[in-house]
Order: sequence, then structure tokens, then C-alpha cells
Amino acid sequence: MTFIRSLRSAVLMLGVSALAMPAGAADPVVVPEQPVFPAQGKITYVPRTSILEYKALSAYQEPDWVTEKFVKTGKLPPVGERLPKEPLVYKTGNMPDGTGVYGDTIRHVIGGRPEGWNYSAGQSQGWGGIDIGMFECLTRTAPLFQVEANDMEPLPNLAKSWKWSEDGHKLTMKLIEGAKWSDGDPFDAEDVMFYWEDNVLDPNVTPLNGATPETFGVGTTLKALDPYTIEWTFKEAFPRQYLFAMAYGTFCPGPSHILKTKHPKYAGTTYDQYKNAFPPEYLNFPVMGAWVPVAYRSDDIVVLRRNPYYWKVDEEGRQLPYLNEAHYKLSTWADRDVQAIAGSGDISNLEQPENFVEALKRAAEDTAPARLAFGPRVIGYNLHLNFSANGWGEPDERGEAVRQLNRNLDFRKAVTMAIDRQKLGDSLVKGPFTAIYPGGLSSGTSFYDRQSTMYYPYDLDEAKALLKKAGLVDTDGDGFVNFPAGTAGGGDVQIVLLITGEYGTDRNLGEGVVGQMERLGLKVVLNTLDGPKRDAAHYGGRFDWSIRRNEQDLTSVVQNTPQLAATGPRTSWHHRAGTDGTLDLMPFEQELVDIVNKFIASNDSAERADLMKQYQKVATTNLDSIGLTEYPGALIVNKRFSNIPQGTPIFMFNWAEDSIMRERLYVAADKQGDYELYPEQLPGKPGDGGPAE
Ligand code: GLA
Ligand code: CA
Repeated sequence: MTFIRSLRSAVLMLGVSALAMPAGAADPVVVPEQPVFPAQGKITYVPRTSILEYKALSAYQEPDWVTEKFVKTGKLPPVGERLPKEPLVYKTGNMPDGTGVYGDTIRHVIGGRPEGWNYSAGQSQGWGGIDIGMFECLTRTAPLFQVEANDMEPLPNLAKSWKWSEDGHKLTMKLIEGAKWSDGDPFDAEDVMFYWEDNVLDPNVTPLNGATPETFGVGTTLKALDPYTIEWTFKEAFPRQYLFAMAYGTFCPGPSHILKTKHPKYAGTTYDQYKNAFPPEYLNFPVMGAWVPVAYRSDDIVVLRRNPYYWKVDEEGRQLPYLNEAHYKLSTWADRDVQAIAGSGDISNLEQPENFVEALKRAAEDTAPARLAFGPRVIGYNLHLNFSANGWGEPDERGEAVRQLNRNLDFRKAVTMAIDRQKLGDSLVKGPFTAIYPGGLSSGTSFYDRQSTMYYPYDLDEAKALLKKAGLVDTDGDGFVNFPAGTAGGGDVQIVLLITGEYGTDRNLGEGVVGQMERLGLKVVLNTLDGPKRDAAHYGGRFDWSIRRNEQDLTSVVQNTPQLAATGPRTSWHHRAGTDGTLDLMPFEQELVDIVNKFIASNDSAERADLMKQYQKVATTNLDSIGLTEYPGALIVNKRFSNIPQGTPIFMFNWAEDSIMRERLYVAADKQGDYELYPEQLPGKPGDGGPAE
């Protein structure tokens, strides 16, 4: 055999054998089909324009007691003068039960605690819908769950209309004209510009939900043309995507007339003083939302009363909201389910599978006070491995060594193949609820494509072999693999897993992962923190691994899209800029960034669908994050409420508290409860001790 011939046959053989070889044990396969779990409550899809409009009506109404006690006594101007020229009008045809009547209360239970009211400076109000109800945003996306897919654009809100320039680089927005904050101060471009310039652009301030300049595109600028007109300038042409970033939670301005009095630029204060200037005890904080906080008792309750200046009405001219009061009882998330089911609370997103069976049993009884309806599988959990090797979170030597492991594909494969997801899901709840979720886009989004979703099946032996391939061996025979000699002293690899202690599900998943990693030979220890501390640690990069419930980037794709990859220094959930401000991306991460940027820039729906298939394949093949489980959630609402849209998912573009449009909810006169704690009272002056009588 000549040299050439032998070479040829060798090449040939190589080719043939490569083709004939069965997929190796460590190769990914298409994820198995999920157990069927039909969503209850069929959504009626509607055109976007059928929900609301802006127009002047011939007359307006308000609750009688407001007229009697406040208008006739000169404490408030007449309702017509409190409303904008053209209020936002909800169309009756889109209201599931039609226009409503005034009265009653919505009783929320939440697991978080208010840090204060300064949303613009990053303070949490305790979640569970309280901030969503207080702060209104330029656009609104939550109700889009009911909008036909070919019509996907955010709804107007504080921005009532917008127009693109011919070249697509400028977007001119008209703000609602003549709307007022809940204390009567005019809302205008000054509020918008204060939020943008002195909060988003100010590097010392990060609003709640993390808006940064890149949230609206690198190089984007904003200016006010007149009190009711603002103009965006983008580097890209027609980046319609950013209209989604102008919705909750990244463009919801605060009251500049109040906030400026404490902001360093205007008041000579420190940034800490600014952030903390409006603690929960500061009542009647001005809002554009439907209800204003008028009472706060620590670890007990926050009470909000109707905003007399709310700028939305029904077609009959009734000023909204219909409900006079909103409660947020300060308890636990698990208690929210219990109370909603028992009837002492009014609403819950049933999102912790540990409560599913009990809740279903009780809801099935005729006497059940609440109805419960499951939606699509949109609640998912991922294990995020910190990919920064250039100092995000300033890790010590051990932490650095873990980051190197996290960046090693064999190591990530070992971790994912050592996770028995069936068992993990069953440990939360038995039955057809949980599904194998390898990571990537949620199976509940319209962009999901199973064939592009790659999965490394559970195989503990293969996982152990991969760990060895990654250079990890148990050199001292204690059952846990060690770092190679010379790295971190050659001791046992120890990984700190960050979780929140606020949810039983997070704790159970954390413990499950620790146990399954122990069988692999990896020592993982939990760092369990409460919500705000966990978020601070996560955003600060102070974690090796972190388990998080998925956010809108994965459940809707069009909301918070930049977070799907490290498209900016502070967008990714597990890879943010290091101490020198740069991102040390691995090649597959750069691929994800390119795909996501193309998606943002594209307005072609076929191309966008295709890009998301590519995203899914690259993300799941390379284990950008490690999926743990995915399951449906159910919306629980007390039966006395009308106007709850059928099939509302508990989470998609936003949480259900936003999607159901609480300002339109009402309780029929014969069903009204006696829950108002401050009947016939309205918010007092900002900073005053309580409501005004
Ligand atoms: C928390 C709850 C969710 C939802 C959101 C709203 O995260 O767990 O169900 O209520 O708050 O922000
Ligand atoms: Ca060891």
C-alpha cells in the first residue's frame, strides 16, 4: 500500500466510522416531550386596539362619597378637572363582565417587605403586585397575553402614542396630557427626564428591576421636546423591541417633584440618603397608579386607598379604580396560597408546587371561596453558574478556581448529567405537573421549539467520567473531588450555592441539587438569604452558583430580551462585567449575544422565530445555564371579583397582578365585603401620617 492510498483509506475510514458511530453518552439529544397538562380557561385572543383608547367623554363620575366629602367641601377639584383632557378609556367590549360598580377591597398577601417607596433608586416595595399597582410605565405589556400574535406591540399607557421617523432612528412619543400625580402635581416630561437622566443614566443609581442605559440600546438618547413630547434616538433603525423595555419594570417614572428634593444633584444629599429618604413610614407617597399607600404597620400590613387623580376611566365616564382599597398583608408567599384558598386573602399566583394538591382539593369543593385555573408551564428554575473570570463579585482563590470549572464544558456536562430531574420534580409534587427542563427558553413561550432544545440525559456514571475529564479526582478519598494540586491548596472542591429562603420551592430545589451533587462527588453548600439580600448578592456577582426562578426574558422573549445573553455589561443573569468593566465572554456566549442582538434589531417575524431556535440550540447545547424544572402555575382569585380575563397566565410578559388590570376589577353590589379599613377616606398630603378624612 502506497502512502497516498493508506492515507486515503485512513481518511475514508475515519469518515465512515465517525458517521457510523452511535451518539456518545455525553452527546445531547432533543428533550423528551412534556407530560400533557392542559391549561384551563381558554383565552379569547383579541386585536390590540380593542382594549383601550384615549378620548374625552361628555361627563365623568366618581364614588358619591368623594363628591360629598371632598369635592363639595372644596378639598378636591371636581372629577372632570382632575382627569386629563383625554383620559385612558377601557373599552367595555374587552371587559369580561362589562363596566363595574364602586366599592370593596382587594386583599393581597405578600412574602416580601417594603424597604421604602423609592422605586427609582432601587428600593423594593415587597413585590406581590404592590409596586406594579403604584408605578405606571410608559407602555404596558402584561395584558398582551390576550393579544393576537401577529399584532404584538406594547399597549400605550403614560405614553399615549408614538411615531417612528422615516429612517427609524427617532421615536417621538406623546405623553398623556393633563394627567396628575396622586397629590395633584402635574405629570409631564420633567418626570420622564428625571427618571432617565438622574436615575437610569446616573451610575450611582439603579432603579428597581435593574434599568441601565443599555436596557434601551447602547448609545440611545432621550430628550424632551415639550412638556408632553419626548424623543428617543437609537443607533439601530426601528428597534421596536425597546417599546417592551418602556413597560414594567424598566420605565416607570417616580414623582420628580418629590424625589428631586432628596436627590444629590438637586439637594446636596448623599446617594444613600436619596435611596432611603422615603421609608415605608412615609405615607401618601405620590403615585400615578390606582392606589396610594396610606397606612403601614411593620410585619403586618400596607393599606392603599384610591388615587383621586387616577387618569383611567370606563366608557361610561366612571373614574377608575372601581375598588376603593388595596391591602398587602405582610406574611409569607406560602401563606398567600393558604389565605387565597381559605378566602381570607383575595388573590394568589399558585407557583409553589408543594401547595398544588391541597389547593386543588379545596378549590374543587362547591363551597370554595376562590376559583383556581392552571395556565401554561411558565414557572421554571435554572441553576446559574458564574462565568466571570475577570472579577465580577471579587472572588477569592477558591472562588476563582470554581469560575474556571464553571467555564469548562465537560464540568457543566457533568453537573447537568448528574441531575435527576424526574426525581427533583417529584420531590416538589407528584403528578403531571413538572417537566424535564434542560434550560433555555420556557416551553410556555410562542418562540419555543422542542427540536432545538438539547438535553443531556441523566447518567451518573457518565457524569463522573466527565468530572474526571475536567481534571477533578478525589485524591484524599473522602468522597468529594479535589482541586488539582496547586489550585486552591488541592483541597476538596467546594461550591457555594446562592438561594432565596423566601420560597419553599427554592429551598427544596437547593437541597435537591446539593444531594444530587453529593452523589456525583461535588461538595455544594447553600447560602440561603432573604429576597433583597439574595438579589444584592446575585447582582453583585457574589456567588459560585445560584438558583433562580426564571424571569420574563425566558417566558416571553420579547420582554427583557437583552437579559437573554451578556448583551451589555449588566444584562446576563450569570455573566456581568468584571472589575475592569469588560466581559470575558466564551465563544458560545458571544454567539448568543450576536443572536440576541440580531433578534432585537429584526422586525421580520420569520427571522425572529428562526433566531430564537438558534438561541435555544446554542444555549442548551453549551449549557449556558442548567435547567432544573418547569411547571404550570394557577391563578387563584376570590369568586366575588368580576372582570378577571379567562386564561390569564400567572406569568408571561409580567405577573398576573398586572395582566388582570386590577383597576378594572370590581365586586358586584350584592357580593361586596366589609373589608375597607379606611372607608370614605382618601390619601392625605405626601409625608403625612395617614389618610385624609
Ligand atoms: C413575587 C411573587 C410572584 C408575583 C411577583 C410580583 O415575585 O412570587 O408571584 O406576585 O412577586 O412582582
Ligand atoms: Ca476529597
